[in-house]
Formats: sequence, C-alpha cells, structure tokens
Amino acid sequence: MSRPEYSDLADINRATQEAIDRLIADHRHSPGAIVAVLRQVHAVAGRLSPPLLDYISAEMSLPLRLVHDVAAFHRRSFQAPEGRHSVKLCTGAACDGRGTGPVLGRIRTVLERKGPLSEDRRFSFDTVRCLGACGMAPVMVVDEDTYGAIEVDQVLEILEKYP
Ligand code: FES
Repeated sequence: MSRPEYSDLADINRATQEAIDRLIADHRHSPGAIVAVLRQVHAVAGRLSPPLLDYISAEMSLPLRLVHDVAAFHRRSFQAPEGRHSVKLCTGAACDGRGTGPVLGRIRTVLERKGPLSEDRRFSFDTVRCLGACGMAPVMVVDEDTYGAIEVDQVLEILEKYP
C-alpha cells in the first residue's frame, strides 16, 4: 500500500497535520496505543475520515483493517457533545512550559465546566497535546481562530467574542 500524502487529506490543514504527525511519532512503536492515538487525532482533527485512518495505519505500520475496525468500534465514545463553539487549549510541553496551567484554570472557571460541554451549551471544551503552533505558546483555538501567547486575563475577553 502506498503511503498517503498530504493531498489525500484535503480537509486537514497543515498545522493539524503536523499535530497529528507528532501524536503518531509519540506512539509509533506502541501498537497498543492505537485507541489513544485515534482519540487524540479525533480531538485534534474533529473527525476520523477514511483517508486519515489510512494515513494513521501507514504511519504506525498497523494493518488498515485493524485501524478502521478500532475506529468504528470506538467512534461514538470519541465524539463529545457539540457546543456552538469549539474551544481547544494546548497542554503540550511547549505550551505547558509557558503557562497553560493558569489559563486552563481560568477557562474552566469561565465556562463553569463540569464536563466537556459548558452548561449553556455555548462551548465545547477540550485539551489537546499539540496544536502545531508551538512557537506561539501557549495556544488556544476557538472554532477556526488561533490565539497565541494567551494570558490568563485574556480568556474572558476572547470567549466573549463567541455568542
Ligand atoms: S505544544 Fe505545540 S502548540 Fe502547544
């Protein structure tokens, strides 16, 4: 089977692709980590499309059928309920070293978070290990908008832009 190229993942932007590549690299020699990889890739990419599963299979040297079957079995559990806006905060090493922790605390306070969805269903919130923008750490993404060098005092102001 030929290795899928970026062009086969037309709905995945380059930053997301790079984040996915980092996730795969972290687990390349751990076949048992496929569920964790699929869960994290779903969180980063928002979906597990067939070309993306083909790519993961090739990159992790795992049988295509296995990766598709595992994804099919777990797909429902990967899908968190959707809010009107998606908020993702990076907790990867680069972001963690530059102050993700306090930002995470502020987001949770602002969203009054008790689960992955804010109580007013305005925001879905999740953390991810890398958003492919380490040079802007700490990084938060709201829908399609990327915010870098986030400081605690900016959290409320940013979230208020999304009614
Ligand atoms: S660690 Fe890469 S964007 Fe946060």
